[in-house]
Amino acid sequence: MWFVRFLTSSIGKKLIMATSGLLLFLFLCSHVAGNATIFMGSDVFQSYADELHSHPLIILVFSSILLLVFLAHIFVGLYLFFENRETSHSRYAVFNRVVKNSFASETMPYTGLFILAFLFVHIFGFTFSPKDVPISVTVKELLGSFFYALFYIVSFAMLALHLSHGFWSMLQTFGINHPRYNALIAKLTIVFPLFFLLIFGGIAFYFMTGLGASF
Ligand code: HEM
Repeated sequence: MWFVRFLTSSIGKKLIMATSGLLLFLFLCSHVAGNATIFMGSDVFQSYADELHSHPLIILVFSSILLLVFLAHIFVGLYLFFENRETSHSRYAVFNRVVKNSFASETMPYTGLFILAFLFVHIFGFTFSPKDVPISVTVKELLGSFFYALFYIVSFAMLALHLSHGFWSMLQTFGINHPRYNALIAKLTIVFPLFFLLIFGGIAFYFMTGLGASF
């Protein structure tokens, strides 16, 4: 079928990466906004979480879509990585070397796998936390542990590195590339990752250092 042939083609796979990347980016925007309520106190954060959980069907649909999007991004990303490695070892290597790789682009599979490991720890700790304990208490307890919070901060640094190349790559795939906007695009590839690092990292730092002791 033409659709399957398109999706398994080189441009099809890049499009899957860019579209799933965009959806994950949108998820991160909503997640960072929801979690930023932590800075407004435990009551505000708890009512945000309770409001979210009062719509179980919406949560189920969104979580299922999110899982599919994550799986598509991880599997196609790993496939492209191994495919690229294969061609860079072949006699076509010289063509690949023409593209100059930044540190962020070269480490994409490793930062990606680190984020995957983070997600296992994160979902195990938060999504599957005991239902009789309010989520605000779980967040404070888990992130109050120094090494747990440190692992979170390192993961957010990996996420920032991953996003700095991923965001740029996504825009290239969507054809958003114009001399007039390239300077702005270059700035956004720094501003967005830093924003996530500051807010998510700030939350971990808040509990790790005891600043959130009265949360
Ligand atoms: C300090 C930063 C973060 C905090 C405090 C936080 C908090 C939470 C909480 C409380 C939940 C459970 C929601 C619930 O079921 O009540 C959750 C779920 C989740 N978080 Fe985070 N999160 C953080 C960073 C991140 C990051 C950076 C990512 C992605 C790389 C992420 C991905 C997820 C995913 C995929 C879920 C499961 C969503 C679902 O159940 O549908 N989180 N997070």
